[in-house]
Amino acid sequence: MEKDWHICVPTDKFSEAIAVFARLHDEYEPADKILPQLRSLLHTYPRLKSKGIDMAFYIMPASEHFTEDFDETMMERSRNHIPYPKLEYFAQSLVRNQSWPELCHLVDGMDLTEDWGYENLYLGEADGKEIDFIANKNKKIMASYGDFPNLNPVLATLSPKPKDRRKKWLRIVGEKERMDHKILGYVKTGPYELVLNLTIVHNTAHQKSSSIAAAGAKSSAEAKYKIIDRVANFKETEAQRPDFDYSNAPIPVTKSPNPDWEYGSGVRQDATARDAAHREIDPYAADRPMVSNYRLLVSGIAPRPVGFLSTVSADGQSKNLAPFSYFQVIDHDPPMFVVGFSARPGRVKDTYRNLAETGECVINTVSENMIEAVNATSIDAPYGVSEWDISGLHEAPTSTVRPSRVRESVFSVEGKVVDIKEFNDHAREGMSIASLVLIKATRFWVREDATNADVSHIDLNKLRPIAQLGGMAYGRISSTFDLPRPRWNDEQPKSEHLTKLDPAISKSE
Ligand SMILES: Cc1cc2nc3c(=O)[nH]c(=O)nc-3n(C[C@H](O)[C@H](O)[C@H](O)COP(=O)(O)O)c2cc1C
Repeated sequence: MEKDWHICVPTDKFSEAIAVFARLHDEYEPADKILPQLRSLLHTYPRLKSKGIDMAFYIMPASEHFTEDFDETMMERSRNHIPYPKLEYFAQSLVRNQSWPELCHLVDGMDLTEDWGYENLYLGEADGKEIDFIANKNKKIMASYGDFPNLNPVLATLSPKPKDRRKKWLRIVGEKERMDHKILGYVKTGPYELVLNLTIVHNTAHQKSSSIAAAGAKSSAEAKYKIIDRVANFKETEAQRPDFDYSNAPIPVTKSPNPDWEYGSGVRQDATARDAAHREIDPYAADRPMVSNYRLLVSGIAPRPVGFLSTVSADGQSKNLAPFSYFQVIDHDPPMFVVGFSARPGRVKDTYRNLAETGECVINTVSENMIEAVNATSIDAPYGVSEWDISGLHEAPTSTVRPSRVRESVFSVEGKVVDIKEFNDHAREGMSIASLVLIKATRFWVREDATNADVSHIDLNKLRPIAQLGGMAYGRISSTFDLPRPRWNDEQPKSEHLTKLDPAISKSE
């Protein structure tokens, strides 16, 4: 996997940019040259590295990737204000440069669909201007292979008149990441590459090398991180749906799905459950994007309760609220809870840092009427913006920990951290560490009208818990049924099947 950054500078400032880095020889030095690349001029551009850091970058003219009219409007900025080409322009540049392996990675990493390509890319025949661009590039490519005269020009250069790019797109979205193994000679792959303009090149050149490396790793991680989908036209889609049922009608209790079920009879009414084929998946396979594991797990391990955690920073200055559905109560004696924190580009989540530094939190339940406010607290707000203010939820006092509990929650649990496990063996460059935190309850708070006299039960009709499902779906409980827990001594005498299985009985016969 190629780790190098590609720093595009305005084409007319290319030599100036090289001169800037040459002047900064205390901080940057030439990196090892690479072998000529097929269909690319990469090996012809200066490759530099920050001294003492194993991370190289190329400086290249923007014309290598983009057409002359590429400007600020075609860029967006990361949270660190690093400019990137907008996705559609970057994808188009890969089409233009016939960089099919990179396009495969982009399609996979950003989960681009067939329709996205048709809507955002020009996949028609190359016009005269593009044909000239290719001819010119091919000339330069062939000239750069001076020392490798035996290279086959057909393999080494771009197709002079690219055709059928719609078909190619269809194949790429259909086959996902497998294409690069099929193209002979392609060794470079790459994440979403970086575009910097000359001003930024100046600024970064004066930063500490380590922060450049960290920022590089983070932006590369950010480019691949695809957990939160941008949803187009959600309000329009939602407008077509029926209204939420606010009636608060009592949740009905029905019979169980199969009240006549008998021991040993398995799943009787649904042959597919028994006969359907299953696909085996290696979650760590090299061609499996992390986001596929995320989507598979959150849609497959569902419903999940949402633990809504209130924490404060070690200096007490910053209060935090955030929802977590990698969350469960794992015992009642002592009352213990677990919360899983996912890795993300950059720093760890504030809730995790607060838990690690202060050892305290309040876990609040999430009822139907709270969900919009709770969901809003997951926003990636700038540091220091309070999620209490974002959500409009209210603080209520606690007695054994410093963070407040959420007044609107039917049930809240004050808790202290008893253990933390960081998944160091899975640490990745640019990503925060993934971890889990074990929390022991120190106090419970239950809404008066939602509990019974000895405070041993919470009324489901009052709690109205929300479950998190796959994608952006949440679920509500719309009916329940009861199913008594079986005990061998009660059940065995009534069941021939259990009697046959009972080792004590079969031995004595
Ligand atoms: C319903 C819901 C459940 C979530 N579950 C988790 C989770 O289990 N683990 C996690 O790391 N992030 C989870 N998130 C994302 C965090 O809430 C989000 O990253 C948040 O910004 C973290 O806030 P913090 O940095 O203030 O701690 C969830 C978000 C939502 C909306």
